[in-house]
Amino acid sequence: MNTVVLGLQWGDEGKGKAIDYLAGGFDVVTRFQGGHNAGHTVYYRGQKVVLHVLPSGIFYPDCLAVIASGVVVQPLQLVDEIRNARALGLTLQNLALSENAPLILPFHQQLDVIFEDSRYQRIGTTRRGIGPAYEDVVGRRALFVGDLLHASAFRGKIARLAEYYNRLFAAYGHPAEDLEYAVQRYLEAGEFLRPHVTDTTRLLQESWQEKKKILFEGAQGSLLDINLGTYPFVTSSNTTIAGVFSGTGLSPKAVDRVVGISKAYATRVGEGPFPSELKDDFGALLRARGNEFGATTGRPRRVGWLDLVALKHAVQINGVDDIFLTKLDVLDDLAEIRVATAYEVDGERRAAFPCHAEALDRVTPVYQALPGWQCSLGAIERAQDLPRAVRSYIDFIETFVGARIRYLGVGGERRQTIEITD
Ligand code: GDP
Ligand code: IMO
Ligand code: MG
Repeated sequence: MNTVVLGLQWGDEGKGKAIDYLAGGFDVVTRFQGGHNAGHTVYYRGQKVVLHVLPSGIFYPDCLAVIASGVVVQPLQLVDEIRNARALGLTLQNLALSENAPLILPFHQQLDVIFEDSRYQRIGTTRRGIGPAYEDVVGRRALFVGDLLHASAFRGKIARLAEYYNRLFAAYGHPAEDLEYAVQRYLEAGEFLRPHVTDTTRLLQESWQEKKKILFEGAQGSLLDINLGTYPFVTSSNTTIAGVFSGTGLSPKAVDRVVGISKAYATRVGEGPFPSELKDDFGALLRARGNEFGATTGRPRRVGWLDLVALKHAVQINGVDDIFLTKLDVLDDLAEIRVATAYEVDGERRAAFPCHAEALDRVTPVYQALPGWQCSLGAIERAQDLPRAVRSYIDFIETFVGARIRYLGVGGERRQTIEITD
């Protein structure tokens, strides 16, 4: 069954681990949106590996790993990531990179930083140039991975774009930077990547027609979606199901199942509303227990209770079939676990999730307290060995959001996953 795996919260739900767990049964794993703003943690031979653009299926040598055309690519970063993976003993011969993936260029990163440091637009981005690169796509002036393979044409195209950006930078009081060094390095990266560059839409279409099993790896999370997330505190791509189709060139007919990943609590990195946030000492305790520090930027993640109003919204907009609930073990010691079940706005109760930040800023969550299990889950392997309180917690969430919880994460390692088959 071709399966989409995507985040249902604000990212960092444990997608890397979940995909690594699930990928064993697949022939192809493909990233379809986002860029190296993502940080997906996987344990390989006991070693922690953080992947940014490489799909989390690379640890299975027979699995074709695809970086599809919806992903924005910083070629120097990708070369480094491939070298690091090779140092782990992975050959990556089965890696395909879309010739139509938009490039993240030096100006994009510069602009991201300028905006972040200005008073116009502080989002708390990863400062990787993701937003400006996607802006160039929408603005119809982007350069693509395929452009790197034609040196003199690339030089002409980037020089024209530099004129545009230099005017913009001058308006913000920033001097133009010398591009020659960067252009040279980009072209060298292009040569390194050349053997992998291909038409991934065709490749994925052929894989589908040959009935190969495809796993689609989402990055970020549904509440960071550019259209359906907590705007403007979002990333610049469709992190929800819609991104699969524009980002790969496969149709909805190629998707059989949607698996949504959620933590048993909530986290967020960067600015923006977070109704169930815990700003107190207890929040700090959860952050420490869950080791909630960004895999990409190292920033401390904001933490809070699981918000079922938001989770139900994410389940609905993605058509989630099964939920993979991660990091249950982080709640092991708690006598009581809270979940938000409604919002109050101006004294009235609301069941709906208002996406836009201004509306979400005004809500106060209403909580339901559920009993904790107060024992260690990390070594449990079978669903029938789960404490009763875990079962009731799962039942409550399933009934509320209208989707089945099929997998539980009880630790960061692949084997610390419990599949519920009944
Ligand atoms: P991603 O961006 O969604 O792939 O998630 P990250 O890798 O950024 O962050 C998730 C963190 O939680 C990583 O450090 C994982 O190793 C860890 N993790 C994933 N699942 C579990 C789990 O079930 N329990 C615990 N304790 N840690 C987990
Ligand atoms: P993974 O795939 C968590 C957040 C940033 C910021 C906002 C916009 O590891 O779950 P951007 O650099 O994308 O323009 O930043 O989105 N963000 C993430 N938060 N996990 C991620 O990826 C994220 N990628 C971007 O912190 O708030
Ligand atoms: Mg992450």
